[in-house]
Amino acid sequence: MYTEIGLDAYHVGRFSSKCLVPRTKLPIVSQCIMSIPDATLARRHCCAANPFTELEHENWQRGVQAYADGFGPLTSQAIPTLLEQADYPNLDGESTHLLDVACGPGQVVSKAISIAKEAKHGSDGDGVGCNRKYLFTALDFSENFLALAKQNIAADHPGTEVTFVEGDAQSMPFDDESFDSITCNFGILHLADPDAFLKESHRVLRPGGALSFSSWAQPPSTEGFDLILGSIEAAGNPDVSLPEGPPFFRFSDEDEIRRSLGNALFHDVHVKKVEPMEWNIRDADHLYQVLLEGTARTREILRGQSAEQTRAVKEELRRRWKDVTDGGEKPLRMPAIMSSGRKSGVLGINEDS
Ligand SMILES: C[S@@+](CC[C@H](N)C(=O)[O-])C[C@H]1O[C@@H](n2cnc3c(N)ncnc32)[C@H](O)[C@@H]1O
Repeated sequence: MYTEIGLDAYHVGRFSSKCLVPRTKLPIVSQCIMSIPDATLARRHCCAANPFTELEHENWQRGVQAYADGFGPLTSQAIPTLLEQADYPNLDGESTHLLDVACGPGQVVSKAISIAKEAKHGSDGDGVGCNRKYLFTALDFSENFLALAKQNIAADHPGTEVTFVEGDAQSMPFDDESFDSITCNFGILHLADPDAFLKESHRVLRPGGALSFSSWAQPPSTEGFDLILGSIEAAGNPDVSLPEGPPFFRFSDEDEIRRSLGNALFHDVHVKKVEPMEWNIRDADHLYQVLLEGTARTREILRGQSAEQTRAVKEELRRRWKDVTDGGEKPLRMPAIMSSGRKSGVLGINEDS
């Protein structure tokens, strides 16, 4: 049972955005509807006029490769637990339909397909998975991430059909009761309205279906975040103005997770810590670069430093990095929090019919 984390004012405050300076409206909708040439990619207008969502969208669109290279190997370590907690692949009905929300570079769906292939070949022991139909849908609001996901999944699993949907996790373009399992790997902390995402997940899950989502444990246990936030606090400006958004570490807190899933009508809630999760970063400058180019909110905080503050933050980061990693000998510890809940009812049976 995970109990260690509380909503510490220092760290939550540090990543809790304030709307002090109005941002220019960005042409989000026109960015979203550029076409990706594939029949299975459903295009959606995806971003409500919310400054926080616009900031996230703008930065994710530009940070795709930096994120995939810098964070991909780290966030992938949570996937086996994520899929297990979403009860994937559930073998009760005739088919299994997985929805991965905020799919990024596509590693969750890729792993899910590998698991389905194994089940189809009977390696689950009793061959129960052999004749099942497996369906995969990946949703993201960034067309650039969707393009990368499509490319990665096609390379890993040529010929496997995946439906890619450009859309907003907070207002999902799916019919009620469409999916057996929903996953969201490190996506919920980027949503302006995560409660809307939880309610939407409940709506589009079949009765008995399960949702799982991951988030980061709160610093100092996530050493990468502790290093950068501590360096900014010590040597830079921690009060950069950002559009108002929820605390970055809201879903690090077990009570808050249970309350939120309960409010969205989920039951059978589980919260657990996933570790070890290790981040292999070359050095302090590499960490700075990954955070600057492959994140959304942190990027804005780093960009909000003056030239002098930037120099001081980098210097402080190098000093702290040496201490935390024994001069680069140890990877950074980056534990995750895995949360899951289930929709009432029996999977595969529509209680209304
Ligand atoms: C931290 S990345 C996680 C990527 C991936 N799931 C992984 O395992 O590494 C966050 C992802 O959430 C997506 N995202 C952020 N806000 C979103 C929203 N409102 N609707 C859909 N996707 C969103 C971003 O485009 C990005 O792909």
